[in-house]
Amino acid sequence: MFLIAKNLNKFRTFISKSLNRVLIGFAIIFLLFIGNPSLAIAQTDATQLAKAVAEIENLDAMRSGLASTLKDSTTEPTVQTFKEVCQPVGMRAMQLSKENGWQVKQIAKKYRNPAHKPDNLPAQMALAKFDRDSELMGFWDRETIAGESGTRYYRRINVESSCLACHGDKNSRPQFIKDKYPQDLAYNFKIGDLRGMYSVFIPDVQAALLNSHTGES
Ligand code: HEC
Repeated sequence: MFLIAKNLNKFRTFISKSLNRVLIGFAIIFLLFIGNPSLAIAQTDATQLAKAVAEIENLDAMRSGLASTLKDSTTEPTVQTFKEVCQPVGMRAMQLSKENGWQVKQIAKKYRNPAHKPDNLPAQMALAKFDRDSELMGFWDRETIAGESGTRYYRRINVESSCLACHGDKNSRPQFIKDKYPQDLAYNFKIGDLRGMYSVFIPDVQAALLNSHTGES
């Protein structure tokens, strides 16, 4: 009986000691983050990330909208209307980069514009990840690009029926595409295929700078 009680006591002190250790551990981690701004900056910036996610949703909706008006049009599409789907997306991506200090890109394995080929290993891996998992809509990672650390957000782009006018059968592509993109790889897609992805790189320094302007932390 005494033995059991003694062991029980030992057990109790063991438990309370371990609990204390865990609590102290948490307290240290907490203090490190609160007390050290450089550590906090090294974390993903939620405000900037949320903004990037929202902007990319707008960008994607813009393309879908433009493509669907083209599809529903009863008049024969002219070269001009054909040009007005994915080029504005590229232009808006550039504008977003400028406005926010981000690097906004479209990336595809089968690209039409060579500027859109995967730019580094993490981008290749992100494409492979989207390819493997058709349910995966987006994710972010920590990356260092050209010596700068930051957060990189990736968002998948799927093929819709309205895209096939220009990304469908190789031979039925509009003439302007055949002329302007002799090395085009972005055809023979089917509805639901992975077309590519958007990528937004948010450098840590930029995120801190923008937040100090807007007064957010
Ligand atoms: C009117 C023709 C047309 C339609 C319709 C169209 N695209 Fe494109 N797409 C293009 C052209 C032209 C480019 C190359 C633009 C450039 O040089 O930046 C392109 C480029 C892209 C890119 C950039 C990667 C690359 O290959 O260069 C993506 C992603 C893309 N299209 C997705 C789509 C999706 C998704 C749809 C349907 C919602 C769609 N496109 C509908 C003509 C079209």
